[in-house]
Amino acid sequence: MALQSVARFVAYSAPFHARNALAATQTRSTGWWSNVEMGPPDAILGVTEAFKKDTNPKKINLGVGAYRDDNGKPFVLPSIREAEKIVYEAHMDHEYAGITGLPDFCKEAAGLAFGEDNTILKEKLNVTTQAISGTGALRVGTSVFSKWFGPSKTFYVPTPTWGNHLPIIKHSGLDVKSYRYYKPETCGFDFEGAMEDINNMPEGSVILLHACAHNPTGVDPKTEQWKEMSQVIKKKGIFPFFDMAYQGFASGDVNRDAFAVRHFVKDGHNVALAQSFAKNMGLYGERAGAFTITCSSAEEAERLMSQVKILIRPMYSNPPVHGARLVKTVLGSAALKQQWLGDVKLMADRIITMRQSLKDGLAKEGSSRNWEHITDQIGMFCYTGLKPDQVERMIKEFSVYLTKDGRISVAGVTSKNVGHLAHAMHEVTK
Ligand SMILES: Cc1ncc(COP(=O)(O)O)c(C=O)c1O
Repeated sequence: MALQSVARFVAYSAPFHARNALAATQTRSTGWWSNVEMGPPDAILGVTEAFKKDTNPKKINLGVGAYRDDNGKPFVLPSIREAEKIVYEAHMDHEYAGITGLPDFCKEAAGLAFGEDNTILKEKLNVTTQAISGTGALRVGTSVFSKWFGPSKTFYVPTPTWGNHLPIIKHSGLDVKSYRYYKPETCGFDFEGAMEDINNMPEGSVILLHACAHNPTGVDPKTEQWKEMSQVIKKKGIFPFFDMAYQGFASGDVNRDAFAVRHFVKDGHNVALAQSFAKNMGLYGERAGAFTITCSSAEEAERLMSQVKILIRPMYSNPPVHGARLVKTVLGSAALKQQWLGDVKLMADRIITMRQSLKDGLAKEGSSRNWEHITDQIGMFCYTGLKPDQVERMIKEFSVYLTKDGRISVAGVTSKNVGHLAHAMHEVTK
């Protein structure tokens, strides 16, 4: 019997479910996706994968951007635990939220960003929607610009910037260009370079600014530099789009970390703002975030809000409610908010202490290099200045895992592992 006939005979003499399986195999073998090439693994998640496989007991994972306590364990904020109890005991239902999420959450999120004495909320100038954490806020926000922002379709991002910014902006159909930000020679802010590049941006461009705790460099402009940047951005007619994923995490003070956003608003800018509660409330997996645009009038805000809803509806209909309930419970209660401010400060202070310990540890190792930038930089990340070959040695010889650009998450440094980290950094740089 010819091979094909054998197959047909087996197929028809087999029981019904086996015939179905054979048919499915035949369909599967046609290869609908043969045109798809294997994509590269995510740069940061790849670091964690390699870390998991390492059996060295001294191994350290400094790749992921999530806070760890001094035992290297995930941290649930006590204020969030309290909010969880309140939400649980309220026996809430699981109905859909509206397209733009929970109104009280949106009000509290915008209030936290703009400050208690702001007039934006009172005058109803803000278009605020709940979003799927900071990433979702950026995705919705860039879609709004792509569809409705008339003057330009080009976003300028700092060099370097968070690895997800480019794909998010491009997915929304916008063009991406860059402006100078980080100066490798000083491991600090390239203020002159940034100002020159801003001055050369065409009118009507959009500039993406990290509101505080710049990722990946940990380098923020100083207060006076923000003020000058605000002026030139205003003069040039450029639209400021803030990404604020770390409010409170940089200095331990949510008001201080919101300085840039509030100053730009005070200077008369209309701003866009993507907020995340992943880091400052430890709600990483709950995906609680918000996107806001401030408008010139309440009437303009109402029109824009109607279009924001139309953009969100086909993307995900409406956002998840649990994380937003926790955020609004914390921010809506004076006592819980006070407790949360203490929790944020505790996290920020531990990071600041670890920066100092690392610098001290390098000095103790006998390093003669200048490591001032470790304590000058701010927030969760430190751009160590390690070169790719040095990073490779950190991983291979010392089981210290970090991204290729030399970025370490200081949140993963503890009083127990900082000595090993300092030793490894000294060994690869001496
Ligand atoms: C600069 C920046 N923006 C936005 C985000 C968004 O984070 P998420 O989507 O977890 O809120 C992050 C997270 O690492 C970030 O570093």
